[in-house]
Amino acid sequence: MNNKDIVSKAIFDVVKEDLSFEQVQQLLENPKSADHGDVAFPAFALAKVYRKAPQQIAAELAEKIDGSSFEKIEVVGPYLNFFMNKAVITQNVLASVVKEKNHFGDSSEGNNANVPIDMSSPNIAKPISMGHLRSTVIGNSIGFILEKVGYNPIRINHLGDWGTQFGKLIVAYKKWGSEEAVRNEPINELLRLYVDFHEKAEEDKSLEDEARAWFKKLEDGDEEATALWQWFRDESMKEFNKIYDMLEVSFDSLNGEAFYNDKMVEVVEMLEEKHLLKEDQGAEIVDLSNYDLNPALIRKSDGATLYITRDMAAAIYRKRTYNFGKSLYVVGNEQSYHFKQLKAVLKEMGFDWADDMYHIPFGLITKDGKKLSTRKGKIVLLEEVLNEAIDSAKAQISEKNPTLENKEEVAKQVGVGAVVFHDLKNDRLNNFDFTLEEVVRFEGETGPYVQYAHARAMSLLAKADFTPDESHEYALNDDESWEVIKLIQRYPETIKQAADKYEPSVIAKHSIKLAQAFNKYYANTKILAEDEQKEARLALVYAVTVLLKEDLRLLGLHAPDKM
Ligand code: ARG
Repeated sequence: MNNKDIVSKAIFDVVKEDLSFEQVQQLLENPKSADHGDVAFPAFALAKVYRKAPQQIAAELAEKIDGSSFEKIEVVGPYLNFFMNKAVITQNVLASVVKEKNHFGDSSEGNNANVPIDMSSPNIAKPISMGHLRSTVIGNSIGFILEKVGYNPIRINHLGDWGTQFGKLIVAYKKWGSEEAVRNEPINELLRLYVDFHEKAEEDKSLEDEARAWFKKLEDGDEEATALWQWFRDESMKEFNKIYDMLEVSFDSLNGEAFYNDKMVEVVEMLEEKHLLKEDQGAEIVDLSNYDLNPALIRKSDGATLYITRDMAAAIYRKRTYNFGKSLYVVGNEQSYHFKQLKAVLKEMGFDWADDMYHIPFGLITKDGKKLSTRKGKIVLLEEVLNEAIDSAKAQISEKNPTLENKEEVAKQVGVGAVVFHDLKNDRLNNFDFTLEEVVRFEGETGPYVQYAHARAMSLLAKADFTPDESHEYALNDDESWEVIKLIQRYPETIKQAADKYEPSVIAKHSIKLAQAFNKYYANTKILAEDEQKEARLALVYAVTVLLKEDLRLLGLHAPDKM
């Protein structure tokens, strides 16, 4: 039980006749300063019922309430300020963590429902961008968080491996490409060909027609086109996998857009059957004016399907395959309109489950205030960013802890962790400007800071040779430990909030606060002093290690024991 529940219960026992437990709970406030206790109850809510001054009600309640969980209950004007009994609370909280370990905060709210998470989804033949990194790490973390509250996440990499750009690429490769160059440096070479194509197509419009024709061939299963497409895809995948390996992200499905090529006929047929398709200058559209949206373009005049057509097929396929409880799309904010249209078309088709589809948008990463764009070749290469971060971690570790055994491995965990944490620590909708120095910074509110706090706590436990004992009662009543205890106690709510809002930053912020509170505790308290509270202090340190490690795991980071 958290403090609010404990207070609610105590008040409710006295006002049962007049307020429900939930009503009491909703009235409770968090006092701004610790001088006003841990939880406050404004008594004016009862003034009407009791027909008395709130001050008097507060005083009378204070008399009647069972005080065993509280150090004191203070009446300040119309307010009742509750000061929790630190020893009792500490004992409960630490007992829970010792017993449940990393499962502290778990729940079964999700009832094991399947939740496909559409994430990462880079485009073949293009570098995986910082935007795709965001999708990858946010999606991965949401997967862990949902799993913790009882869902079954299914990570799907909806690769951008289909579309007219493959026509362009085939034309460019056949005209100006070399096999060797693609083998040596697939993404760079394919990107060069793509950029070249756009430059040359500005002068020679017939190139666009050629590209369209090649994409049509690809859609129809032409052998040469398919072989080239497959080869581009394989080579690109090898590059993407380097990044996924570094991030240690894996997928349950790599069904990209191409997978739905043969599944769109059915979609178009369904639309026809329901008389939803309209002709518009040779193209086929679905009217969405009922939803205040522009019409969705389903098929172009040359018969080619579009991004949205493939997403419709994918949504239907996911419903059939996974019978999802909800279906998430972790995709940049700039695609919001697309997902509104997607849901609307499916609703028009009578698929009520479209209400269970959620676009989980995130903000843009800019460079010097401008949007990063692949077409102009102006991109930040993710692999370079990660390697740079690892080097920087290596340098700092060599300085701080030159004798560390598995330096390479720890440097990787810290460097990659810094990049991932940097991405997750702010509300996902915030935009941020990318600077390498900022991303690999290890001080302040960063992943390495949290990892350091964890390692410091671990070494303290090792020094004391401490193992927690379930039958032991660990009670503390000092103000220093109380700040840490409150953050531990709040953990289950924190997890729930992160899951409800699909917001990894809630976890990242909790980890920073806990690391900061622990570092303060460590600086101000003689944890290893030989007195009767030593075991309890160590149990607190133990709980900190469990939660920091779990926070980091939920974000997709390691928590090295030593750094
Ligand atoms: N490949 C797309 C892009 O890079 C993202 C795909 C997102 N997922 C989806 N189901 N539409 O913009």
